[in-house]
Amino acid sequence: MTTIKKITCIGAGYVGGPTMSVIAQKNPNVEITVVDLNQQRIAAWNDENLENLPVYEPGLDAVVGEARGRNLFFSTDVDKAIDEADMIFISVNTPTKTYGKGKGQAADLKFIELCARQIAAVAKSDKIVVEKSTLPVRTAEALKSILDHTGNGVNFHILSNPEFLAEGTAVTDLHNPDRVLIGGEDAEAIEALVQVYEAWVPRERILTTNLWSSELSKLVANAFLAQRVSSINAISELCEVTGANVDEVAHAIGKDSRIGSKFLKASVGFGGSCFQKDILNLVYIARSYHLNEVADYWEQVILLNDHQKTRFAERIIKTMYNTVNGKQIAFLGWAFKKDTNDTRESAAIYVADHLLDEEANIIVYDPKVSAEQIYRDLDYLGTRSPEDNRRLVTVVNTAEEAVNNAHAVAVLTEWDEFKHYDWAKIKENMKRPAFLFDGRKLLDGAELEKLGFSYYAIGEG
Ligand code: NAD
Ligand code: UGA
Repeated sequence: MTTIKKITCIGAGYVGGPTMSVIAQKNPNVEITVVDLNQQRIAAWNDENLENLPVYEPGLDAVVGEARGRNLFFSTDVDKAIDEADMIFISVNTPTKTYGKGKGQAADLKFIELCARQIAAVAKSDKIVVEKSTLPVRTAEALKSILDHTGNGVNFHILSNPEFLAEGTAVTDLHNPDRVLIGGEDAEAIEALVQVYEAWVPRERILTTNLWSSELSKLVANAFLAQRVSSINAISELCEVTGANVDEVAHAIGKDSRIGSKFLKASVGFGGSCFQKDILNLVYIARSYHLNEVADYWEQVILLNDHQKTRFAERIIKTMYNTVNGKQIAFLGWAFKKDTNDTRESAAIYVADHLLDEEANIIVYDPKVSAEQIYRDLDYLGTRSPEDNRRLVTVVNTAEEAVNNAHAVAVLTEWDEFKHYDWAKIKENMKRPAFLFDGRKLLDGAELEKLGFSYYAIGEG
């Protein structure tokens, strides 16, 4: 029976950092080192002031505070950490390819392959290598081939252990997961990882499968979740033209236990680093096996999501007399969901881009996202020059600064604090008519209309 004493995780990002922090918190006798090439990120994980951790997640500071320096370490010395570990998690990014074959769809596995080659080059003792990153089905085969052909004659066992945490609730998801999934071929290696999780997860919630089922289940879980959002968003458009209310429809259908109530909140569109990337990857895999109907079916989830973002921006323009040129539009929220500072693929970026094409002036306030990040997101699109992005977009530190004198307010992220603002006062300081576009259906529309706002919410007739 293998008992794990030292774990290394390559990749100190949104998954590697929180996941390893909780594993360390719950396994005080296992030494865990999280490594990354990004020195700045590692320095931030080591920052004495826990408010400066590179990932904002409610409750994470307490977990890191408890384990760091005891059995949790953050380092840039990747070779040393690989050499010393019994078990190595690979938790590096797997973005959509931006070049070559599969550009725009397939997952880019170059970071994964680099990790495998580095492990193969450095390892002098047997290792269990765990895929924590989300990967195309059958990646373990390639990993094993690299490890076995370039290694120093040591034995490698590969496990797939995809992560299901959601940002904003990472710590509670990790503390209390619906399930932990472990795929593998070697019973002893599987058992070693089961033991790590058993420190706090009930055994019946730890599922073990073959490698391919585990790898594929991760892509499928994200595809099903995203599909629910696109399904309710499709209905939101129908609600707007028929006078139905999408929240009421969601509530009514969600009461059916076969459907369930979660993940039925209509929105300006899903964002985040994974839903789009993982569905595109699923579509690519299906097409590579010539399963065109399967690929088309899942691709529609993305197309509908793009439509939802565009439609929200167009609704703003149309409502504001078909021109937003020179008008001040206050964006409340930039993160892809509340309680995170992550902006990857956030709907706000695309809605802003559309409005900037029409020469709107956008003033952004987000409680957790920095101005640098917002400009980086817009510059990355390459739609206009960085100078134009800075000419048209201003980022402020308070909601008050954003909404003062605004022609319109648009809610892009469902931060709780937006619900508690003094909306009567906000309206007094806005231009008339005071337009309010609620992309999250977050606010009390009836109340706002009473205050005199021209209120529009996703999914409300
Ligand atoms: P991330 O970009 O936040 O972090 C990845 C880190 O890996 C970066 O800090 C990068 O510097 C580092 N890295 C890359 N190559 C490296 C190398 N060769 N050596 C050392 N460090 C290296 O990404 P993330 O959001 O943590 O996602 C990681 C994986 O987990 C992805 O496959 C993603 O699909 C999956 N996932 C993400 C989430 C989420 O909520 N973000 C949830 C579940 C699964
Ligand atoms: C999602 C999954 O929920 C996680 O299980 C998975 O591990 C993760 O992707 C991943 O693989 O990266 P995450 O993207 O962090 O987690 O956050 P979600 O809560 O799933 O939200 C995704 C997007 O959908 C957000 O933009 C959110 O606002 C939107 N959403 C979600 C809706 O518009 N409506 C809903 O009802 C739910």
